[in-house]
Amino acid sequence: MKKLVVVLGSPRPASVSTMLAEEAIKGAKAAGYDVVVYNAWEMNIKGCQGCGACRANGIDCVIDDDMKAYFKDLHSCDALLVTAPNYYSTVAGHVITYMNRHYCLTNPDRSQRLPEGIKFAAIFTQGAPENAVPAYKANYDWFTGTFTSKGMECVGTIVAGGGSDMEAKKKEAYALFAS
Ligand SMILES: Cc1cc2nc3c(=O)[nH]c(=O)nc-3n(C[C@H](O)[C@H](O)[C@H](O)COP(=O)(O)O)c2cc1C
Repeated sequence: MKKLVVVLGSPRPASVSTMLAEEAIKGAKAAGYDVVVYNAWEMNIKGCQGCGACRANGIDCVIDDDMKAYFKDLHSCDALLVTAPNYYSTVAGHVITYMNRHYCLTNPDRSQRLPEGIKFAAIFTQGAPENAVPAYKANYDWFTGTFTSKGMECVGTIVAGGGSDMEAKKKEAYALFAS
C-alpha cells in the first residue's frame, strides 16, 4: 500500500490548515494511500544541534526525540504533506524547527538519502489575503525548497488566506494526492 505522511503545523483546534489537510487525506485515502499523521506542535522536537554526525556518517539525525519515528516513516513513504500557519510573515517557528532537521537527509557526497520522487505538497495559511504580501511567497518557496532539494517532487502548494474561497481550496487539497 502507498503511504502518505502528514505533518500538521497548526497548534489550533479550529485550524484552517488542518481542515485543508483533512481534505487532502480524504483524497489520498480514496486513491489507496495509508496515512500517518504527525503534529509538529505536539511532537517533542529539538532544533538541529549542528553536530554534523549525520553528514559525516550518512545517517539520520542522532538526536533522540520524536523525529526518529518520523524519519522511519519518511524513508518508507510515497508522499509527504506539510501544513503550516504563517506567523510573523513566515512559516511558524516550530515548523521551521521540524524542517531544519531534514539536514541529515543529504549524504557526505551531497547525494540524497531518500528515494527519488517522493511526492511533496504544502499547505500554508495566513490572515492576509493570498497575494497581498509578495514576501510571503518567497518564504513559502524557501520552506518548500528544503523538501524538493532532498529529491522530492512538489505536486502542489496551497495558500489560503483571509477572504480565500475555502470551498475551492478544499477541492484543491482533496486533489493533491487523489491521482
Ligand atoms: C503569532 C501569530 C502571528 C501571525 N502572523 C501573521 C502574519 O505575519 N501574516 C499573516 O497574514 N497572518 C498572520 N497570522 C495569522 C495566521 O497565519 C492565520 O490565523 C492562519 O489562519 C493560522 O493558521 P491555522 O488556522 O492553520 O492555525 C498570525 C497569527 C499568529 C497567532
